[in-house]
Amino acid sequence: MAGNKTFTMIKPDAVENGHIGAILEQITASGFRIVALKLTQMTKNDAEEFYAIHKERPFFGELVEFMTRGPIVAAILEKDNAVEDFRTLIGATNPEEAADGTIRKKYAKSIGENAVHGSDSDENAQIEGAFHFAGREMF
Ligand code: PPS
Repeated sequence: MAGNKTFTMIKPDAVENGHIGAILEQITASGFRIVALKLTQMTKNDAEEFYAIHKERPFFGELVEFMTRGPIVAAILEKDNAVEDFRTLIGATNPEEAADGTIRKKYAKSIGENAVHGSDSDENAQIEGAFHFAGREMF
C-alpha cells in the first residue's frame, strides 16, 4: 500500500521569484496537509549528500550549485498516495513537458531550475524528510 507522506523543496529559483505563497496555496488546495515546514539554505555538503544518488550524472555540479545559491522551503506533506499524487501535481522534471496547470508548468523555466522537488518513492520521502527535519519539527 502506498504511503501517506512525501517530501518537497521549493527550490531557489521559485523562492527568488516570489512564488512561495502561491505554491504552498496550490499544494494545500490540492489536499496535502503540511506536517513540517521551514525556510532554510543547504550548504554544498548538504546538497552533495542529498543528491548523492545523482553524483555520476553530468549535471551534478550544476545541480549542487543551483540548490545552494539561496534559500529553499523544505516541507513534509501528508495525503493518501502522497508520493505519486504530488509528482502529478508538480508535473514533469522538464517544465516544457509538464502538463498545463502543474506547478512546474506555471513556475519553472528549465530542467535545471524547475521550481520544486518531490520525492520519488515512499522510502526516499522518509529519508529526505529526516534529512531536513528533527522529530520535534514534524506535526
Ligand atoms: S527525477 O524526477 O528524479 O526522475 O528526475 P531526474 O531526471 O532523475 O533528475 C534528478 C534531479 O536532477 C535535476 N536535473 C537537472 N539539474 C540540472 N541540469 C539538468 N540538465 C538536470 N536534469 C535533471 C532534476 O531537477 C532533479 O532534481 P529534483 O530535486 O530531484 O527534482
